[in-house]
Amino acid sequence: MVRPMTDALATWVDGQAANSLPLPDRGLEFGDGLYETLAVREGGLRLLDRHLARLQEGCRRLAIDAPARATLVAELRRAAAIPGAGLVKLVLTRGAGGTGYVADAVTPRRIVQAFLPRIRAPEWATQGVAVRRCRLRLAEQPALAGLKHLNRLEQVLARREWADPAIAEGLTSDVHGYVVCGTMTNVFAVYADSIVTPELARCGVAGVVRAQALDWLAEAGHRVVVRDLRDAELDAAREIFLTNAVIGAWPVRALDGRTYEPGPVCRELQQRLARAWESAEAGVCAS
Ligand SMILES: Cc1ncc(COP(=O)(O)O)c(C=O)c1O
Repeated sequence: MVRPMTDALATWVDGQAANSLPLPDRGLEFGDGLYETLAVREGGLRLLDRHLARLQEGCRRLAIDAPARATLVAELRRAAAIPGAGLVKLVLTRGAGGTGYVADAVTPRRIVQAFLPRIRAPEWATQGVAVRRCRLRLAEQPALAGLKHLNRLEQVLARREWADPAIAEGLTSDVHGYVVCGTMTNVFAVYADSIVTPELARCGVAGVVRAQALDWLAEAGHRVVVRDLRDAELDAAREIFLTNAVIGAWPVRALDGRTYEPGPVCRELQQRLARAWESAEAGVCAS
């Protein structure tokens, strides 16, 4: 049902076609780096500006020298233009060198790869997905919160909690019992008077679709609130949906024992994303 992201169609390391990575690399040694996974539609890169803005912010917070935007855009576009490409992944590691954790005079390394699109059951977007709660608790680290950094062991462990292919996603909470993210998605819960998405100041990844959705939903007149969301509050939601750059938005139809109807807010977001991508709306889709 889900095509694994295994063989890359093409790989470049620091702009050169490559099949392997020179060692050492601090990304491998310490998870010292950042990454972005971009969806490609008809050669266009979805949400390119938001991906680059998050990468830039990650570089600032981790004190990694950000590559020139023009270099990144050219390399991402080259990958998106590979026939059949549906995903482009950019990994930016701090590079090779330093002494142990000390990382001075290190040049960042860019790894850009094009992949076939990941095939998922089309009804997940229309009829919704079944989701479970994960037992794993996310640690708090405000210095890393929101970033798409290379340390993703929490998500790897959380994803090991289930093998049933009918379960599309697992929700992760922090040590206080607040819902933070899915293993690969952001979460929105819709109530009569507001749409809530978790605050990500202590842990979690601030997704590009989450950011776009926050803007669009507010523009459309919804009351959108970013705050801590207790797990128990999910039971009272009229609608829950999940977002990420590859899937766009998925309605949740079941969360453990509770069922939900795919709702109008998720549908509205899906339609808005589809319209933007079809019309190559500036900033949302770039070719
Ligand atoms: C833990 C986690 N949260 C949220 C997201 C969604 O982020 P984006 O919308 O940028 O794809 C991802 C994406 O992979 C993720 O891994």
